[in-house]
Amino acid sequence: MSHRPEPRHPRFDFSELPQHWFADAPGLTHVANGLNLIFPHGERFFVRSVKHYLDQLDDPGLENQVRGFFGQEGSHAREHEAFFRRLESQGYDVQSFLGFYTRSARWLEDHFPPALNLAITAAAEHFTASLGEHALTDGILDEAHPVMRDLLRWHAAEEIEHKAVAYDVLMRVHPGYANRMLGLCLGSVLLVGYWVIGSVMLMRQEDMTSDRQRGLRRDLRRQRQGVVRGVFWRAIRSYVRRDFHPMDHDNLHLAEAEIEAMADRLAPTRQAA
Ligand SMILES: [Fe+2]
Ligand SMILES: [Fe+2]
Repeated sequence: MSHRPEPRHPRFDFSELPQHWFADAPGLTHVANGLNLIFPHGERFFVRSVKHYLDQLDDPGLENQVRGFFGQEGSHAREHEAFFRRLESQGYDVQSFLGFYTRSARWLEDHFPPALNLAITAAAEHFTASLGEHALTDGILDEAHPVMRDLLRWHAAEEIEHKAVAYDVLMRVHPGYANRMLGLCLGSVLLVGYWVIGSVMLMRQEDMTSDRQRGLRRDLRRQRQGVVRGVFWRAIRSYVRRDFHPMDHDNLHLAEAEIEAMADRLAPTRQAA
């Protein structure tokens, strides 16, 4: 359990990214964009919820992993925000959603006990690692623009690398099953709820001819089958086991292979946007 997530600091260049970067399909693109929109604030929440317990860990090995986790999440948030600037330059209003999202999520965070915030983080990290494995193995990103493919595959690999950190902190400071399950319920509702709202907000800004509407519905059906049935349901089934641990599922080799394959593109090289 001593795998230390290594922070990397790539700079992706989004300046050439087309509007409908996912299979040239507005629906697929905005479903993916909606997930992107919730990452930075979510990742900073994950960091805060773990940092709250940092001085109680009394375990240099786990503290070392926690610091690697902080570094990785910080890099993810920065690169996703660079992508937001590209969305804005394409004419999309993302600030209305981000304002609603960050204010409401921060209100919840401030009113939930720290143990529950940490349980939500541990569950959300299980989902991001599960989505990461899906992204690396199911060919779902084959039709994405290369720069978004790189962003999302890098993010996916690092989610797998640090998948156990928040969970191990939770088990150290608040190991109760009821709190973990409450975190799973709330984490699921909040993740899916904000994701749907962000995606719908972007879709409503599209020019909606009836052909486009049919295309959106078809795109959404494609996503629902893969992500909801293939990822979320399986992830929930494993997480509810009383003896669950993220490392029971051996997929670190996927992350290692991906990081190695894209090593030349993970150097910090973004040009001015
Ligand atoms: Fe992340
Ligand atoms: Fe993460």
